[in-house]
Amino acid sequence: MVVGREELRAGVARLGAEIGADYPDGVVLVGVLKGCIPFLADLVRALTVPVEVDFLAISAYAEGTGRVRLVKDLDTDIADRDVVLVEDIVDTGLTLTYLLGELRHRDPRSLQACTLLDRTSQRIVPTPVRYVGFDVDDDYVVGYGLDHGERGRNLDMVVALDQGDADAYVESLLHG
Ligand code: IMP
Ligand code: MG
Repeated sequence: MVVGREELRAGVARLGAEIGADYPDGVVLVGVLKGCIPFLADLVRALTVPVEVDFLAISAYAEGTGRVRLVKDLDTDIADRDVVLVEDIVDTGLTLTYLLGELRHRDPRSLQACTLLDRTSQRIVPTPVRYVGFDVDDDYVVGYGLDHGERGRNLDMVVALDQGDADAYVESLLHG
């Protein structure tokens, strides 16, 4: 196990307190589908400031290239708004860099990033992430929104995938 239930709960509460303190007048959370879903659902409920939620979805141009394109855009006009982009994990930083650039074009009043998990060892582009839940090491992780081939998102903790048969491992975690 990498991040257990209780740690997740405490981490999300801490992030909610940090974001709430920084945006007393309200904030727009922009979630990156689909990995952000459980995290964002808990994070919004940890906020007591006015909060709006919107989503982006991206798709890789080609596996492993690090290049992405928007396949679902925002419905919200974020001009002059305070925006926090919410990610499941920042790895190389390529995705986040692309998305922050995309959102910056729309002239938000402020723009920051929040990620549940941060794997700084793999960073290719220096990427400012204001709000970080947990640092993780090199092992691929699933759970609490993060998937391996669309499986494992519904685990309520974050676990490292062992080498070997990852599919069987996810299956055993879900079904005991
Ligand atoms: P980056 O562009 O390399 O920073 O990749 C970030 C994206 O890759 C994340 O938003 C995830 O969708 C995916 N990703 C990277 N590492 C993991 C992992 O360990 N588990 C699940 N998804 C991952
Ligand atoms: Mg992601």
